[in-house]
Amino acid sequence: MPPRGALCLSSSRPQTRFQCGAPSPARQRDVRRRLPSRPAAPAQPASRRRSLPPQLAALNRTCLSTTELVVRAAVEDDPRHLRHAAMTDPATAAALPVERIWELCDEMEASYDATTVRHLGNLGVGAGWSCWEIGAGGGSIARWLAGRAGHVLATDVDPRLLTGLPASAEAVRHDVRAEPLPDRTFDLIHARLVLIHFPERDELVAKLAGALAPGGWLVLEEIEPRGQTVLTAPDAASAAVFGSVQGRILDVLERAGSDVEWAGRLPEVLAGARLHEVGSARVTTRWQGGGPEIRLLAANSVELAEQLTADGVLPEELALFRRVLADPRFTVSS
Ligand SMILES: C[S@@+](CC[C@H](N)C(=O)[O-])C[C@H]1O[C@@H](n2cnc3c(N)ncnc32)[C@H](O)[C@@H]1O
Repeated sequence: MPPRGALCLSSSRPQTRFQCGAPSPARQRDVRRRLPSRPAAPAQPASRRRSLPPQLAALNRTCLSTTELVVRAAVEDDPRHLRHAAMTDPATAAALPVERIWELCDEMEASYDATTVRHLGNLGVGAGWSCWEIGAGGGSIARWLAGRAGHVLATDVDPRLLTGLPASAEAVRHDVRAEPLPDRTFDLIHARLVLIHFPERDELVAKLAGALAPGGWLVLEEIEPRGQTVLTAPDAASAAVFGSVQGRILDVLERAGSDVEWAGRLPEVLAGARLHEVGSARVTTRWQGGGPEIRLLAANSVELAEQLTADGVLPEELALFRRVLADPRFTVSS
């Protein structure tokens, strides 16, 4: 039996990219190497060594708290502590992508998971199925699959948040673009908000179809953010600034290699991948200003602020864009 089919789910929900602003270990080493060596401090009497001024003790405490959270994440195998650590670290808290990494992961998973599990459930994922979750992120879908299927391979190029999975799921660091595919076949391969960013996305779909077991399913979920329509706005200026800034954000993503209209072409791409059945579904909801989904748009505008400014978006336009997104009178299709 040939691989049975492919399902493409698209939504006009926007993409948010998470970025950790904390220096990598290699960069931290560089920073340390550049520090001038300090002359040894003169020996202090024991009484002075004990009296660390309270403001310095407080500074010390902030660093220690972050380190303690990271250690706790490792000991308890709980990714939430890592997210907390990124948010409370004094250096990273100044930059929103890091400050909000935990909240953003939660928001994205919460806003997409209901649709995803409904469709995966309809396919009949169950005992004995071998599943591959690509670009698994925080692992919410891998966890859901693990509760139903026989075995789940959850891969991500950055698997730091993929902890705390049940025994039937395996978290592996894997770059789906650059590395060979796993040496086995799957009853289900699922990727959500991953392939849209890769220039070689069409070729990858064909390769993934080849990794399906007979009767297996390939399920890809992507976004169509150019289709978003303003439904209500406090005034005409708010609607206009939404259209112009959101359009520029999508331009920046496209220049970086994303194809924000790919979801619309997915049925055709899947049909070309020698699959037996191809289906597609489009999901549209209504987002309200200040709600969890719409906050992802505001985060995009902060994360990409430098490129947007270089593209001629004025600081006052960005500020108004974020104010509009926080206003409950503003609603937009997803
Ligand atoms: C927008 S997030 C989506 C996460 C998850 N699929 C979800 O919907 O909640 C994109 C994920 O793809 C991962 N990713 C990016 N490039 C990748 C690559 N080349 N191979 C595997 N994973 C990749 C990122 O690390 C990130 O976790």
